[in-house]
Amino acid sequence: MTGSRPRVPHNRAMSASAHDDAVDPGPEAFRALLHEQRVWDPRRTTLPALDPALIPGRPVPLLRRWFAEAADAGAAEPHAVSLATAGADGFPDVRIVVLHDADEDTGFSFATHAGSHKGRQLAERPYAALCFYWPVLGRQIRVRGAVAPAPHHAALADLHAHSPGALAAALTAHQSEALDSLATLRTAADAAWARAQREPDADAPDWTLYHLDPEEMEFFQGDQARRHVRVRYERVADGWRHELLWP
Ligand SMILES: Cc1cc2nc3c(=O)[nH]c(=O)nc-3n(C[C@H](O)[C@H](O)[C@H](O)COP(=O)(O)O)c2cc1C
Repeated sequence: MTGSRPRVPHNRAMSASAHDDAVDPGPEAFRALLHEQRVWDPRRTTLPALDPALIPGRPVPLLRRWFAEAADAGAAEPHAVSLATAGADGFPDVRIVVLHDADEDTGFSFATHAGSHKGRQLAERPYAALCFYWPVLGRQIRVRGAVAPAPHHAALADLHAHSPGALAAALTAHQSEALDSLATLRTAADAAWARAQREPDADAPDWTLYHLDPEEMEFFQGDQARRHVRVRYERVADGWRHELLWP
């Protein structure tokens, strides 16, 4: 990355106040609380063994199997995935999105506003990484690859197959722009909800479905004795090769 780090926009209306101190536990209580936390508490987590001899040759079917197992084990929102991007400035960014599909032909699908921060970053540098974490089974999956927008009709078909709330959110444009007040958001969101109900096939011009074509994927199975099993897949000319990694 060259040059200085880009400034994160700051909304003056949200600057520090006495309220911040009232709700802050303070650094020491925070550190104590932090050190109390445990990863993979056996009351909530079971750690399945991952036998390298049984690792399949292709990663997407394995991801789908782990997803189904996470959902079955009661993982909260297993389809919420971290999406990392970086624009032309090279400054990494990450946020959660909902996974719309995982398919060996079309890759990993998610949807967002093309004009949002992530949409602009993807236009500048069309690569991204995903990270799933399902604590209930001590499992993490990482995915890296090139990203391309789907045709707009596919984005609309995908959007219209979801709830009116999804359409209303897509119609409430301006994602990632500075907002002057919650009243402004309320007015825009009310109008978007009314339109989504009146016009369930409404176009949301900025709403974009993206496909991430996986180049690399890594499966991490946590182990209580910290002998975590990591399997990294890499795409090669005739399919995929995989190898174990030191944890
Ligand atoms: C559980 C969860 C699911 C989300 N799903 C999406 C999504 O599918 N698409 C989306 O644009 N934003 C989604 N968001 C909001 C994003 O995390 C983010 O705040 C927003 O997209 C703006 O990101 P950006 O400024 O980096 O572009 C979700 C947030 C959460 C917590």
